[in-house]
Amino acid sequence: MAYVVDLRSDTVTKPTQAMKHAMVNSALGDDVYREDPTVNALESKLAALLGKQAALFVPSGTMANLIATMVHCNKRGSEAIVGNLSHIYKYEVGGAAHVAGVLLSTVANKPDGTFDLEELERRIRGDNIHEPITSMVAVENTHNVCGGKALPLKFLDDLGVVCKKYSLPLHMDGARLFNASEYLQVPARRVVRDCDSVSVCFSKGLSAPVGSALVGSCHFIEQARRVRKMLGGGMRQAGVLAGAALVALQEVVPQLALDHKRANILARTIEGMFLKSFSVDVENQHTNIVLVTISKDSSLTAEQVLQRLEQVCLAETQGDCKTTNDEGVIVKATEFDPKTIRFTLHREITDEDLWLAIMKITYVFKELHAAEK
Ligand SMILES: Cc1ncc(COP(=O)(O)O)c(C=O)c1O
Repeated sequence: MAYVVDLRSDTVTKPTQAMKHAMVNSALGDDVYREDPTVNALESKLAALLGKQAALFVPSGTMANLIATMVHCNKRGSEAIVGNLSHIYKYEVGGAAHVAGVLLSTVANKPDGTFDLEELERRIRGDNIHEPITSMVAVENTHNVCGGKALPLKFLDDLGVVCKKYSLPLHMDGARLFNASEYLQVPARRVVRDCDSVSVCFSKGLSAPVGSALVGSCHFIEQARRVRKMLGGGMRQAGVLAGAALVALQEVVPQLALDHKRANILARTIEGMFLKSFSVDVENQHTNIVLVTISKDSSLTAEQVLQRLEQVCLAETQGDCKTTNDEGVIVKATEFDPKTIRFTLHREITDEDLWLAIMKITYVFKELHAAEK
């Protein structure tokens, strides 16, 4: 048996004791009739927290983004402009095209998760009979593929000005919005100030078992409510889930800084190994996601490294790379592309887990690097 440190994603987090208690004890009603007091409490609390008029509890982040796209792009022949590395574009199964009939046009994401605003302006279409109708711009904050980067407030402010100039709704995929707010050291309402809609996930680093929410004006949320029903996302006694999400806001948001600190320690340790094959951009390490880049000159692939991290060999357990119970250590991580590995820190990773993960990663990286020479 080996001890597993699971750094694949913050979505692997399970509900806390307080969440389980809330799931059993929260007051319930039929949320499609708007009679679930726990869902209503969650929606009011989140709307107030983000400085918007209303919120809507939905089953997933993917559905939240799709609903926002369908509300903002409600004319046939609409397009939404998104980053080419955004979750909406890369990982939501093409729902905008398939379900909403919306064309996703991309602008190139920079390594910090932003994009060029002049390029955006060039891409916004005017009133031309040959072209689709630009109806939404979306950003992702923190930006997952860019390594959990919090978008700079200056960028968001400037983007807000551009969107207003063209009367374009601005949507934020804020699956990890509270990580951005923690990193920037400003309240979440400041981060989303210029956004017309925001999606927030409770089931990632916030550790709730299920659930996301959309936030915006009363008018936007009323339309979103209809679209949610159409997509089959109208849940009945959803207070069972909203109760856990309320606890997530109260109990887990204040702890996100710990995940960021641990991610920083991991990033600095990898950088401190000075191995040419593996690099981390420590200066731009913002939140709970650590990206490791495998050098182009190396023949190693992310898949090979991940496979090795999931194996335990006799030599490592004969040395120090083991738990106090003499168990070998397995580290699980995610391949972003053939040369990029993602480690994600989250509430279930303790200081001891981090230490074991660091031992294993150090052992494996040094071994693979030595074998290449
Ligand atoms: C940035 C981002 N947006 C949206 C989603 C979608 O969330 P869900 O898995 O709840 O559909 C994810 C999921 O990992 C994500 O990382």
